[in-house]
Amino acid sequence: MAFDRASEASASLSHEDLDQATIDRRKDAAARAAAELVEDGMRVGLGTGSTVAHLLTALGERAQELRNARCVATSPQTARVARELGLEVLGLDEVGELDVAIDGADQVDPEGWLVKGGGGAHTREKIVAAAARRFVVIVSAEKAVARLGPPVPLEILRFGAERTLRALGGARLRPGGDHLAQTSPDGNLIADYTGPVDDPRRLATRLSETPGVVEHGLFAPEMVSEVLIAGAGGVQRRVGGKPPT
Ligand code: 5RP
Repeated sequence: MAFDRASEASASLSHEDLDQATIDRRKDAAARAAAELVEDGMRVGLGTGSTVAHLLTALGERAQELRNARCVATSPQTARVARELGLEVLGLDEVGELDVAIDGADQVDPEGWLVKGGGGAHTREKIVAAAARRFVVIVSAEKAVARLGPPVPLEILRFGAERTLRALGGARLRPGGDHLAQTSPDGNLIADYTGPVDDPRRLATRLSETPGVVEHGLFAPEMVSEVLIAGAGGVQRRVGGKPPT
């Protein structure tokens, strides 16, 4: 695997543009490193978000070569783009277990804990990650943090949503345009837990045990096979806690 793709040169851009351009280039570098793991005939889980958009582009460039690969998408947006690029997209239950799943993240800590769900698709993303023998996370270096912090995305049921938010003590619906809140691909409400994240495992247990919470965006290290982090020096690979099978 190539870990030295990121090139940081771009002289003519303004400071603000350069920042966004650099981040985009890093996302692309991480995504392209992960795309190299995908071979024809594989069953592939596809995450959601702007980093995954780079992954889809990279896989789309190889659509002919990957014509026997079967993909499972974690959101309607990912499914639509993947199909437009010539990839076959099926349901998870049609495909069964996956060889690899590749997805972005909002935060990655040194132990391998992730916060996901910036796009509100973390429930499907967690199911797909769990169905994969190998779960690969792709991030630009800004996502690698010393300690996780709020917000932690939540998918919650509409029924009793206000009660659920009160029970969590420090959570709010994520604004969703004209709607009550942003919704998940399955029509539930997206909220953000805004309290402290000092002990991710304890918080994950508490969030899971709160009635009305469908799923939270904390992913434990044992779900993650590896994290590809693209920064100024290229793409670094951090091994996760999910054993190879
Ligand atoms: C979507 C996610 C995304 O992977 C996460 O929000 C990162 O997004 P991006 O690649 O756009 O920075 O969890 O639910």
